[in-house]
Amino acid sequence: MQAHRHALLVLLLNGFILMPVHAQESSSDVYQALGERSGIETIVKDLLGRIANDERLAAQFKSIDVRRFHRNLSDQLCQLSGGPCRYGGDDMRSIHAGIGVTDTQFNALAEQLVRAMEEEGVPTWAQNRLLERLVPLHEDIVDVPAEAAPTQ
Ligand code: HEM
Repeated sequence: MQAHRHALLVLLLNGFILMPVHAQESSSDVYQALGERSGIETIVKDLLGRIANDERLAAQFKSIDVRRFHRNLSDQLCQLSGGPCRYGGDDMRSIHAGIGVTDTQFNALAEQLVRAMEEEGVPTWAQNRLLERLVPLHEDIVDVPAEAAPTQ
């Protein structure tokens, strides 16, 4: 019991000490750092070009409705970054069902998104915050898991 209390105290203290680091970040800081709605639209446009030129990704995107994808992904990134948008597309699981997205492809898209954000001068801390918020979508988007790690 004593040990539990001690552990809880350490956790609380940690939270307290770490809190000020994040305290100055308001909920829309990431949105601002992305360049607000117009910055996000430019990033998504850039991302679309990179997807089309990436042989790991291009095939599945060949017949998409580009305008719809651009609008919906922009809304989604705007909302996730704390901006004043609401994502109105289909839920991630149903839109990606049957596309057969692999782990490698998920990472490839994240990599291209980072390149697009770099291109637009988005600071690294904001890139990382956005990526953090995309991680929970992974399980709904990917349906081909990475191959099992070889046993040693
Ligand atoms: C961080 C990863 C990803 C995010 C946040 C994401 C997000 C989205 C969004 C917002 C849409 C539009 C939904 C709509 O219009 O209702 C979409 C559609 C689509 N995504 Fe993803 N996606 C991701 C990864 C991938 C990957 C890795 C692939 C394939 C290699 C992929 C393939 C597609 C395709 C083909 C569509 C169009 C489907 C259709 O219009 O029928 N996505 N995605």
